[in-house]
Amino acid sequence: MTVSVVVPGSFDPVTLGHLDIVRRACARFDRVVVAVLENPNKQGLFSVDERLELIRAVAGDVPNLEVDRFEGLLVDFCNARGIGIICKGLRAVSDFEYELQMAQMNHRIGGVETVFMSTSPEHSYLSSSLVKEVARFGGPLDGTVPPAVADALRERLG
Ligand code: PNS
Repeated sequence: MTVSVVVPGSFDPVTLGHLDIVRRACARFDRVVVAVLENPNKQGLFSVDERLELIRAVAGDVPNLEVDRFEGLLVDFCNARGIGIICKGLRAVSDFEYELQMAQMNHRIGGVETVFMSTSPEHSYLSSSLVKEVARFGGPLDGTVPPAVADALRERLG
């Protein structure tokens, strides 16, 4: 049996924390689809095309990894693609409450299961928002995002 999972998110931009979860998911599951949310109500720093391009640039070497976009409900994307499991990273207990609600809702409305992976401790403080804030003020980005993403952030934010 082939086990497929989706790793969903905004990925604006992808961080080393995201990549840690994606690579570990790729080592455990047969097929991993990273799905970037296309949210018409929220303008990101990077367009969805740019986010996809960055993910492909830094993780495109992984053979069982696919990168795609979705809009609307995640469970609709999962069911259309024959994916029964959502894989999420948990950084801290504070993530858990909302993640649990989403997992229960996604099971209720779409019959899709959620598995949680604990973020590696060295990445547990990372978020795309914080990385953007550091980049906006010219702070160092090493250890937070891959070099290609750091370059893209510097280019976008000056
Ligand atoms: O990286 P993020 O922004 O924390 O990711 C959140 C994401 C994209 C996983 C979540 O917002 C989502 O699944 N949105 C799609 C809409 C949806 O299905 N909402 C119902 C979830 S219960």
